Amino acid sequence: MKRVTSSKKALGTKKPKSKKKATARRKPSPAADLDIPAWAANASGLCSAYSTELGTALIGKSEAVLARPVGRALRGQVQLVFTSPPFPLNRKKKYGNKEGRAFKRWLSSYAATLTKLLTPTGSIVIEMGNAWMPRLPVMSTLAIETLLAFQRAANLYLVQEFIWHNPARLPSPAQWVTVNRMRVKDSFTRLWWLSPTPFPKADNRRVLAPYSGSMKSLLASQKYNAGDRPSEHSIGARSFLKDNGGAIPPNVLMELHDESSDASNLLVGANTSANDSYSRFCKAQGLALHPARMPVGLAKFFINLCTEEGDLVCDPFAGSNTTGAAADNLRRRWITIEADPTYAAAGKGRFPELAVMAPPREAPPEKPGTPTSSASDTAPVLVEL
Ligand SMILES: C[S@@+](CC[C@H](N)C(=O)[O-])C[C@H]1O[C@@H](n2cnc3c(N)ncnc32)[C@H](O)[C@@H]1O
Repeated sequence: MKRVTSSKKALGTKKPKSKKKATARRKPSPAADLDIPAWAANASGLCSAYSTELGTALIGKSEAVLARPVGRALRGQVQLVFTSPPFPLNRKKKYGNKEGRAFKRWLSSYAATLTKLLTPTGSIVIEMGNAWMPRLPVMSTLAIETLLAFQRAANLYLVQEFIWHNPARLPSPAQWVTVNRMRVKDSFTRLWWLSPTPFPKADNRRVLAPYSGSMKSLLASQKYNAGDRPSEHSIGARSFLKDNGGAIPPNVLMELHDESSDASNLLVGANTSANDSYSRFCKAQGLALHPARMPVGLAKFFINLCTEEGDLVCDPFAGSNTTGAAADNLRRRWITIEADPTYAAAGKGRFPELAVMAPPREAPPEKPGTPTSSASDTAPVLVEL
């Protein structure tokens, strides 16, 4: 596979030489044409929990839905697959060798199917938490191995790796962090941005972060120290004087204690809000909250980075439909698929215009042995390879 690399340090002084070439290589996406709600309504055998003007939340196993002729109609249409797959977390059971390998095999078997859905400039972004060995204070490499197996199975480029850091996460693995005090708390998940092309559709101007206080002062004063830095970067006299509307974010994404925030930049939101429309809907309907919700801001960040209005976004492991809600809010078309009908139905609460609030009912206890979960808001997973 031909890789494109650049070792040039260009901190505002030099234009990358390859810019023209890179632009020329980019292929336009095909016209966005599939009317998703109509597609879902007319296709036989599809079961939709609800639809909006832009998308539909399907109930079913995504491998089965995507293998049907109706699923194959999506090939070449999807600009972004954004998903947090079920990680083999089950606190009631131990995960032995076979299950770790079986999980890796199962997830990597999705690689070709999901890649076929993509437009020529499409992307797949997968979120995965960390895994620890049972009874030992050491990490498992299962998550990394699974991501590598997925990447290799469809010959994908690793476009960029991201870390979602959630400092509000409870200290875990508890035994080694709070009891034996020999490890520090595990507080991040990893997101791999993959694509069949080194030049997937992307524009960091859609995810600019607010300028820092010092950058705002610099822009106001129009003064800073130009010249060579010990890092061998050479800072031009005018490189930082232009207000570009915000700062280019790093690939470490931070939490923000406000789920309702529209933040689409590096402050992506916590996933624990008890008072968003989804949580209120679940309470009103007596539905258990999904145990592994991701922040809406995290989905919005990647949807903004990798797609434009009208593009199609797909999440084959939808959970509470965070991805669909984020896509809808950003005027992207969306298809999400969730195997558990109760989780799928509860996702409606993310769409206040669809969700009729009934008077609050007693919520059932969390499902024992929840079959699936990412590490988004849970303790790290115990697995063996
Ligand atoms: C980690 S959760 C996704 C959470 C989601 N990102 C959110 O914010 O709510 C993974 C979900 O995948 C679902 N799932 C597991 N196997 C599936 C399959 N074969 N097809 C579709 N959904 C599946 C699980 O029921 C679970 O809700």
